[in-house]
Amino acid sequence: MTTKLWIADFGYDQALRAFETSMGKLGLDYLDLYLLHWPVPKEFEKTLVSYKAAEKLLADGRVRAIGVSNFNPNHLQTLLERTSVVPVVNQIELNPLFSQNALRDVNAQRGIVTESWSPIGGGKNVARVLQNPQIRALATQHGKTPVQVVLRWHLQHGLVAIPRSVNPQHIAENFDIFDFELSSTDMATIDALNLNERVGPDPGTFDLAAFEALVASRGDGRAR
Ligand SMILES: NC(=O)c1ccc[n+]([C@@H]2O[C@H](COP(=O)([O-])OP(=O)(O)OC[C@H]3O[C@@H](n4cnc5c(N)ncnc54)[C@H](OP(=O)(O)O)[C@@H]3O)[C@@H](O)[C@H]2O)c1
Repeated sequence: MTTKLWIADFGYDQALRAFETSMGKLGLDYLDLYLLHWPVPKEFEKTLVSYKAAEKLLADGRVRAIGVSNFNPNHLQTLLERTSVVPVVNQIELNPLFSQNALRDVNAQRGIVTESWSPIGGGKNVARVLQNPQIRALATQHGKTPVQVVLRWHLQHGLVAIPRSVNPQHIAENFDIFDFELSSTDMATIDALNLNERVGPDPGTFDLAAFEALVASRGDGRAR
């Protein structure tokens, strides 16, 4: 069970209060994983004290592990210099069209697990990923669906993918990826699809104003 600290709740005391609010809503005594949702580069001191609040929750046994989301290498560097606990996870936007090789390497060098959000593409890129001819050809070759091929690609790269679905058949399909294996050629074919195109916000400039602009542009409140 994972939840995240939203940037409007950054600050040491605010973070501790927000955590209790989340736990009340979830009805849990402890949490498996608590993440800082985004860095706020313009207010990085606040980002750091919020992480220190997460460290306290870890020391107090309220959470089993702590991590971050959307941290770039420079954010990780400062975090590691100024705090004590290495985040277990950096949850980042990652799919075949935006494969984030450099950041994955930095995470790995720091002993941080890379978790892939929008692993199928997220938003408009879901259709682009699922209609990609190379991914469709691999799906036919392995007798699986395009989504299963994409999720298997994450798995074989050691990435933790968190696909979202409200469809029970899709959810079952998304778990059914342990009975086939992509070859190194298959993996290279998918690796070559990277366009370095982000769908979500840029962590280098993220703040509340950027978030509100994104929500307004989408008009559906689906920005987190
Ligand atoms: N840390 C962050 O800043 C951040 C930002 C964005 C998202 N996230 C996390 O990432 C998770 C996933 O991201 P996302 O929702 O943006 O993108 P995603 O998981 O890549 O795509 C979700 C879309 O894929 C469809 N889908 C799922 N399984 C499918 C299947 N087997 N066949 C066909 N379509 C399928 C879903 O439709 P159906 O519902 O119809 O199956 C949904 O429209 C979210 O739950 C969220 O927690 C984190």
